[in-house]
Formats: sequence, structure tokens, C-alpha cells
Amino acid sequence: MTSVQPADDSLSIEHSTSGKKWELHVEDGCLRATQLRQIPLGQTDLGLLSYDPAFLNTASCRSAITFIDGEAGILDYRGYSIEDLAETATYPEVCFLLLNGELPNESELASFEAELAEEAVLPADMIELFAAFPDNMHPMTMLASGLASLGAKYPEADQVLDEANRKRQIIRLLAKTPALAALVWRRTQNDSPVGASPDKGFIASFLRMLLANPGEDFEVEDSFARAMDALLTLHADHEQNCSTNAVRAVASSHVNPYSAVAAGCFALHGPLHGGANQAVLEMLEEIGTIEAIPDFLEACKCGDRRLMGFGHRVYKNYDPRAKVISGLVESVLDAGQPDPRLEIARALEAIAREDDYFVSRKLFPNVDFYSGILYSSMGFPPSMFTVFFAVGRMVGWLAHWDEMLRDPEQKIARPRQIYTGHSRREVPKMANR
Ligand code: ACO
Repeated sequence: MTSVQPADDSLSIEHSTSGKKWELHVEDGCLRATQLRQIPLGQTDLGLLSYDPAFLNTASCRSAITFIDGEAGILDYRGYSIEDLAETATYPEVCFLLLNGELPNESELASFEAELAEEAVLPADMIELFAAFPDNMHPMTMLASGLASLGAKYPEADQVLDEANRKRQIIRLLAKTPALAALVWRRTQNDSPVGASPDKGFIASFLRMLLANPGEDFEVEDSFARAMDALLTLHADHEQNCSTNAVRAVASSHVNPYSAVAAGCFALHGPLHGGANQAVLEMLEEIGTIEAIPDFLEACKCGDRRLMGFGHRVYKNYDPRAKVISGLVESVLDAGQPDPRLEIARALEAIAREDDYFVSRKLFPNVDFYSGILYSSMGFPPSMFTVFFAVGRMVGWLAHWDEMLRDPEQKIARPRQIYTGHSRREVPKMANR
């Protein structure tokens, strides 16, 4: 098989031995992989397959939700830049935007927030469930288990093809996930839960559930509320990342959305996805002083270490989310104790960005470089960081779930494989094995 000659909207492929030719249609810069099936390669095969482990060059869907240009460092939700949204819109506005395609006007926002408020309280037996979890259970396992169990309360959630029902479950999951996350935090501290205060608004209620002492008044720090709101916005969606792909794949079986987002949590939990901010904190603590930075960077350059929080598969420029978080860190630290890790992070960034090794490889700070410092300065340990990531990402998972179920081209996700095992053989008798 040789010669693929790109044309405006078609490719011709010529078989090098038989000389046979095929015209393949190209649409939106994409070749529909099933066209390859018309090209036979042997007597028994089903046609030419494409092989793409980890989807490095395969689009699995059409999506109108999020756009990323990694070379330019651009991240847009529904056409609005992440910087603009983090600066000017609240997280509930961003949720409405991701789910509905447009920002809400005043009355749309009021009714969306009222719908969220109405669903903010958890069923009472969730508290019993969390009390029964083992003491050392990881917060992300608690969150995923809580979400999957919540589904049992709403059997109608199985009707995933019913649009109105989908909308109800989306509101429920968005509204109740912060309460579950707060319950996770309280459980890890062996603290009594504090219920939602939906009248106070989405973020204030979330912070209150996390931080208030039961029965006492609680004033939400403005800088904390602003930082949490922006962090949830920055994490709200990132197109076909590992956990969103997991949610889409699991939900493609038409399982209820509680099970699908629980799967998303487990995917997000992995250190290659949601867990790098913890590694950044550990790295900053290990470096310890500004004087130790050059030696650490030398170790990174000769491959003995990695500069955690730098580099990204998609961004070959400054991750726009990192820029926003870098600014937020100052505002939260102004309100609390100075953090020596921030000083080291700033110096590390400044030195790395002048160093040819990092410059030539286009290695810039990613979203995780400053987010761990920010959560930590708000008083949370690393094991909770991914839980907050999941609270923010819930809307992205749900927007993709809904988009997938509306897409007539989608079917149950079922990749093919290149079989590398034995050909058919007989089962030997036990004595002969
Ligand atoms: N420190 C030192 N060198 C690096 C780093 C880094 N953080 N990242 C990449 N490089 C080097 C590689 O060694 C390689 O060098 P070479 O060309 O001399 O072999 C070159 O840059 C290209 O790197 P790859 O590993 O091929 O890039 P890839 O796209 O596969 O990896 C990744 C991206 C995994 C994010 C990587 O940059 C990394 O490990 N970063 C640190 C971990 C991290 O911060 N992860 C969070 C990402 S954001 C998120 O997932 C939410």
C-alpha cells in the first residue's frame, strides 16, 4: 500500500501491488475511518483498519462545547475565552453556558440557580453511607461511590433517551456533587456534616458545607469564594480528556449518568490525569530553597527528574488556565499566611522559562503548577485536590453526556483490536498441560 495524496476534499490510495485505487472523502480535515473497510488486504479480513493506541490522531466525536488550540495556548468554552469567563462569569453562569450553548440572561440565570438550589440537599441516607466507609478510604473513591449510590435514589435516571429526564438528572448531579464533596472532606476529618444553604448561592453554600462549624455562623472569605468559583470554572471542561472520554464511553452503553460520572471520577483520580498538582507540591517542598533550583533543573535536563507542573500533551504554549490560577494565588495568600512554596514556584518558573532546554521543547507551566499551592493555601490536603477538580468537571462530563446522546452518529463505544494471540487450537487434557 503506498501513496496517500492529499487533495481538497479527497484522498486517493493506491495498492502498490495490484494498482487498484480508492477515493476517500475528507470532511472537516478528517478521514472517516470506516471508509478504510472497503480496502481489502487478505482473504479473510474485514478491510483495512486504522490503529491508534491512546487516540493520538483520532477524533471520536463531533463536539461544539470546548475548543483548544494548544500551539497558541487557547482554551474556549462555546467560543468564549477561559480568561474572560474566569474573570467575568460565575461558575453557575459557566455551567449554563456549557450545557445550553449560550450565557444566561438575568432571568435564565435566576431560574437555573433556583433549580440548583432546589436539588442542593442530599438524601439523608447518604450520610449513613459515608459513615460506613473505612477510615482510610481515598476521598476520590468516596466521591465516586457516593455518586454511584446516589443513582439508586432516582431509578428514572435509567431513561437516558428522555430529554426532560436527562435535564433533571443533570441539575441534580450538578447541585448535589458539591454536597457530596463536602461530605467527603468532613468524613476524612471525622467531622459532623454541615448541610447545604441553597439560599446563600452555589459557591458560598459549598464553602460553608466544607468549612463551617456545625451550628455556628460562617462568613465566607471573598478571596476564597472568588478563587473557588474561578477554579471550578477553569476545570469545568477540557474537551476529550481521559475522564470525559471515560464518561462518554461508559454512557454509550446507555447506563444511567450516575454510573457514568462515577467512572469519570475514577479516571480523573489517576496520577497521569488529575493527580499532578500533588506531585508539584511535593517537588516544591523537596527543592526547599531558591538556591537549590539550578541543581534541580539540571537533574530535570539530564532526565533524572521531571519538572512537575510543566509541559502538556496539547499545550505547546502557556496553559491559559495556569495564567489565571497564578494570579489567583496572590489574592488568596494576601488574605492568609504567606507560603514559601509560592516563592520557590515563581523562581522556578522564571529560571525555567529562560532556559533553552525548556524553551526549545515548548515546556510551559500547566494548570497543575499553581493549583496545588492555591488549594493548599485554602487549607486542604493534596488528597482533596482531585475531588475539587471533579466538582468543577462535573458540568463538562454532563454536557458531553447530553451532547453524545443527541448525536445520531454515536453508538456504543467499541474499538477494534489487532489480535496478537494464538490461532485456534485444541484444549489439551490436564495431564498434557
Ligand atoms: N520536565 C522535564 N522535561 C520534560 C518535561 C518536564 N516536565 N515534560 C516534557 N519534557 C521533555 C521530555 O523529556 C522530552 O524531551 P526529549 O525530546 O529530549 O526526549 C520532551 O520534553 C517532550 O516530552 P514528552 O514526554 O514527549 O511530552 P508528552 O506530551 O508525552 O508529555 C506530559 C506531556 C506528560 C504532561 C509531560 O510534559 C510531563 O510529564 N509533565 C510533568 C507532569 C505534569 O505536570 N502533568 C500534568 C499535565 S496537566 C493535566 O494533565 C491536568
